[in-house]
Amino acid sequence: MANEHFTFPANFLWGTATAAHQVEGNNLNCDFWVLEHTPGSPFVEPSGDACDHYHRYADDIAMLARLGFNSYRFSIEWARVEPEPGEFSRAALDHYRRVLACCHDHKLTPVVTFHHFTSPRWLAGDGGWEDKKTAALFARYCERTAAHLGDLIGIACTINEANLGAYQYLIGTLPLKLDPSRLKWLSEAARRIGADPNRFAPYLMCDQMKARDVMLDAHRLATAALKSSRGKYPVGISLALGDLQAMPGGEARRDRIKAECQDIFYEAARGDDFIGVQTYTRNRISADGTLPPEAGVETTMMRYEFWPEALEATIRQASAVAKVPVIVTESGIGTDQDDRRIEYVARALNGVARCIRDGIDVRGYCYWSLLDNFEWISGYRPTFGLVAVDRATQARTIKPSAEWLGKIARANAMNITD
Ligand code: BGC
Repeated sequence: MANEHFTFPANFLWGTATAAHQVEGNNLNCDFWVLEHTPGSPFVEPSGDACDHYHRYADDIAMLARLGFNSYRFSIEWARVEPEPGEFSRAALDHYRRVLACCHDHKLTPVVTFHHFTSPRWLAGDGGWEDKKTAALFARYCERTAAHLGDLIGIACTINEANLGAYQYLIGTLPLKLDPSRLKWLSEAARRIGADPNRFAPYLMCDQMKARDVMLDAHRLATAALKSSRGKYPVGISLALGDLQAMPGGEARRDRIKAECQDIFYEAARGDDFIGVQTYTRNRISADGTLPPEAGVETTMMRYEFWPEALEATIRQASAVAKVPVIVTESGIGTDQDDRRIEYVARALNGVARCIRDGIDVRGYCYWSLLDNFEWISGYRPTFGLVAVDRATQARTIKPSAEWLGKIARANAMNITD
């Protein structure tokens, strides 16, 4: 095995990522808040105060900069910015202006995501992500937001993991659609916001393939809206990309899945400024379905396989088909053993370095996540953070992995092996 001291390209982005609902706290007006609080909910706990990042963002951003990073990826919460259809909150937009200004004060490039799973209640209750008209509503929100913030945006990501529902359905971890007529919890959640259960369609809780197509449209319209609004910055989409590996006999099934939830998005990204790759593991596909991890292999707190090499494989595929620069907008691991986090990220970064050495234009790496935060249905149990958060006091504790990755970021270099 050859060792090499590898220097990343000049201006390589070293960031960490968060999402509004997972860290801000008290995101009352969004669809997921209702889903979490309705009796019978599969969410193990509600998001509550989350990491109170809404109030503590300045300290969190300063900490990130001190650690050595030069970028911060976060999302803007549509439910705060447009609390009722067509009613835009100047105060909410001003809040995000302050967050952006804080990034600039600390010389961090802000990577702004406009949709990270959550939507306003009114949208989810009126057809949500199954309804074609949502694409234009999303573009309108992006346009209004960019008109207020565009001069401070560093890089824009329209939608986070726009293919996640389709991907999870096709590999068999989500049904095509959770049926509100059979799930009392879901129909009760709809009732609580005064919606017809058949029109209640939060992302990931609705028809995954209809949502995929609405997402594709929403990305296209939002990109045009951002390009014509205030500010000039790269615009792209981020995708949930498992490394889909065919087991003997599984090639046709793997290719079908790949076409439906990866290639269709790579092709849509062709005219974009970049593609956001988000990869956590591999999926082994046989002729009959997706195989669970083999007995005895290391798994993460998310119960999937510890497989950091998946990142290199998906960067290569995304770049080959989309033919645009790549930013790793998420890569990370839920674990309570911080030395396994370091091992995971070191191996993932080795893969990034090999891609760059082979001439692939990779422009950045964002670790998911800055903080131990609200991991959706699993609540606060899986810990992805470089920084721990005390749930009672909100005190932050920097983990060794944060110092380790910050040092690599500052040096813009690391030792890699072949
Ligand atoms: C999502 C995050 C999530 C992370 C870890 C990604 O799918 O964008 O919101 O917390 O993975 O599961």
